[in-house]
Amino acid sequence: MTAQILDGKQLAQQIRTELKQKITLTQASPELAVIIVGNDPASEIYVRSKEKACQEVGIKVETFRLTSDISAEELNELIDLLNNSSAVNGILVQLPLPRHLNPQEILTRIKPEKDVDGFHPLNTGLIIQKQPSAFIPCTPKGILRLIHTVKQDLSGLNAVVIGRSQVVGLPVSHLLLNENCTVTIAHSKTKNLSEICKKADILIASVGKPEFVTEDFIKPDAIIIDVGINRTNDGIKGDVKYNEASEKASYITPVPGGVGPMTIAMLLENTYEAFLKQNRS
Ligand code: GUN
Repeated sequence: MTAQILDGKQLAQQIRTELKQKITLTQASPELAVIIVGNDPASEIYVRSKEKACQEVGIKVETFRLTSDISAEELNELIDLLNNSSAVNGILVQLPLPRHLNPQEILTRIKPEKDVDGFHPLNTGLIIQKQPSAFIPCTPKGILRLIHTVKQDLSGLNAVVIGRSQVVGLPVSHLLLNENCTVTIAHSKTKNLSEICKKADILIASVGKPEFVTEDFIKPDAIIIDVGINRTNDGIKGDVKYNEASEKASYITPVPGGVGPMTIAMLLENTYEAFLKQNRS
């Protein structure tokens, strides 16, 4: 049987429409500051999609385009300025940063209550402690939202996450653990990867290698979440060999149109939440 598609594009559109309606009713507009350093073409594309999505729902967005030779001190000065601006509700530093800038140091400079990407160590800690006040990183949050459209109770399921990045692999593993999944985090040093993946009721592929996950990784009726966006000569490919996987899985996210649009929708949601929290006092 062929898997059903987990349509991230459609769900993201629904979330954006609802957010737009809520923002129309607010007195002021939420505002997001985006910082992009250097001219990585993929980052440029992502930032433009984020800007467009913000504008569509009524979030003001100001983008700071900085040259790749900017120093950590100068970048931190800009972050301090935005931290202290009452007009700015959310701050996002697009990753990756040029090599001379330490991303952990830069991301830690952002005020946790404006950290709409959820990358500040305080927000990481709040997730581990299951505190509802945490900002949850956008891609992991979008993945959970998609899974919940087809399965509410994840308790006791085997979840395997391939990839241990700070942006996706680690936070999504914590979210699944918080939902009582039995979580295995696999990575480049993992032995017998396909055997491990074959036990997964939920398989999250965040590898960065086109069509890395093949049919022999997949348990029948598994839920497959493909985080990959790999540019190849044959166009954009996910981390999962879609045709093979969809023959075995029960649900699968397409690439494009699966996780990607959800990441942006969750950024909008986090920015709106930041705005509400900052205006609640
Ligand atoms: N680079 C790749 N994914 C992301 C993300 O979710 N946020 C930021 N800031 N940079 C990224």
